[in-house]
Amino acid sequence: MNLSDNKATLSFSDGSPSVEMPVYSGSVGPDVIDIRKLYGQTGMFTYDPGFLSTAACQSTITYIDGDKGELLYRGYPIEQLATQCDYLDTCYLLLNGELPNVQQKKDFDHLVTSHTMVNDQMQYFLRGFRRDAHPMAVLTGLVGGMSAFYHDSTDITNPEHRHIAAIRLIAKMPTLVAMAYKYKIGQPYIYPKNSLSYAGNFLHMMFATPCEEYKVNPVLERALDRIFILHADHEQNASTSTVRLCGSSGTNPFAAIAAGVACLWGPAHGGANEACLNMLEDIQRMGGVAKVGEFMEQVKDKNSGVRLMGFGHRVYKNYDPRAKLMQETCKEVLQEMGLENDPLFKLAMALEKIALEDEYFVSRKLYPNVDFYSGIVQRAIGIPVNLFTGIFALARTSGWIAQLNEMIGDPEYKIGRPRQLFTGPVARNVKPANER
Ligand code: ACO
Repeated sequence: MNLSDNKATLSFSDGSPSVEMPVYSGSVGPDVIDIRKLYGQTGMFTYDPGFLSTAACQSTITYIDGDKGELLYRGYPIEQLATQCDYLDTCYLLLNGELPNVQQKKDFDHLVTSHTMVNDQMQYFLRGFRRDAHPMAVLTGLVGGMSAFYHDSTDITNPEHRHIAAIRLIAKMPTLVAMAYKYKIGQPYIYPKNSLSYAGNFLHMMFATPCEEYKVNPVLERALDRIFILHADHEQNASTSTVRLCGSSGTNPFAAIAAGVACLWGPAHGGANEACLNMLEDIQRMGGVAKVGEFMEQVKDKNSGVRLMGFGHRVYKNYDPRAKLMQETCKEVLQEMGLENDPLFKLAMALEKIALEDEYFVSRKLYPNVDFYSGIVQRAIGIPVNLFTGIFALARTSGWIAQLNEMIGDPEYKIGRPRQLFTGPVARNVKPANER
């Protein structure tokens, strides 16, 4: 970051001396005011619940311009990556800063592919879960549990350990997600098949059985790969910030990524695609497209507590660029599966049309986010609704680990320790129970 000529001056109405603070510029995007010495100089903290105005780190990985609806990984527009690269190119880019050349790509694909198996003990760990457990509960446990298997890559101060842990996590996540699915439905686990692509291998582990030959459908393979690319990173969102905060204590990468998985589960974040599909199914049950107007009235009524899931974003105040790409994939997949007249897709289109014209959504700059269409695509592929967030976690693992490794390698990195505005009781004495 570069020190700007501009400086910020904070003045106080009570006559306390004003404070001058440096301003830094990045390569693009808003400048930041450096408030690190503020407490030392004034005895005051800044107050910013939800981090609405706080840059918690500097990063070179992902840039979002929410007003323009632009998303760049290491400078490359998501539209180009989604159409010209595959997920493993994207992982390489996120981890290393550049797209791989032909040899680097071959080596990286081989490296990831040769780490896809998990320790056989994992299946006994899995057996401890109820069959009806939510896959995200299972995944949180399995990913955290990886730290018990790979003692040789848990030292985050060692760059080689960080690299091996990154490869292991990216390689094994699809295996774990597929195992969680197979366990739930009571089918035998399918071992990874290293001759397949990353997405093809995942489809194989999900849908093959030992009884029949499984042929990967290239349209579904490409669609899944695109889902992975679109979800790979999204700068300092809640789960990534969780991974950074968790990792800032020096904990091992598997534990930090498990914290990210847990955070992602929430319906305001990764759980939104599941919540969105459940919402579409609810409206369908209520009467489908004919009931869209009634449903929208509920959404606009603040007392109803109903939100249009898959709409709105903390950063995008324009169309989420990933939603456009996902809508394209959605059409391709539905056509491939002969589901062009899928009622949920029609319902989603009707909701989107109304929302994009409605004053409530227009004035609040609420546009479809990536989750609006990704659920329909996944459902058409045959992925059960409660596994959607698991797929998101699989894809986001590359971003999480790239961000974690960037933080550990940053000389300015410190343990994350937010402060607070205390509004509870001041010091008081404990009274005997009969006097309380
Ligand atoms: N439906 C109806 N109203 C909404 C929605 C929505 N989906 N999203 C925001 N609003 C309204 C809010 O009620 C608020 O209205 P007000 O100004 O009259 O009070 C205004 O728009 C601003 O909303 P906030 O909640 O303050 O915006 P914030 O940035 O905190 O929230 C969030 C963003 C959580 C994503 C929100 O838009 C939401 O809940 N969306 C639905 C869930 C969803 O799709 N999440 C996926 C996010 S993308 C991802 O994680 C990959």
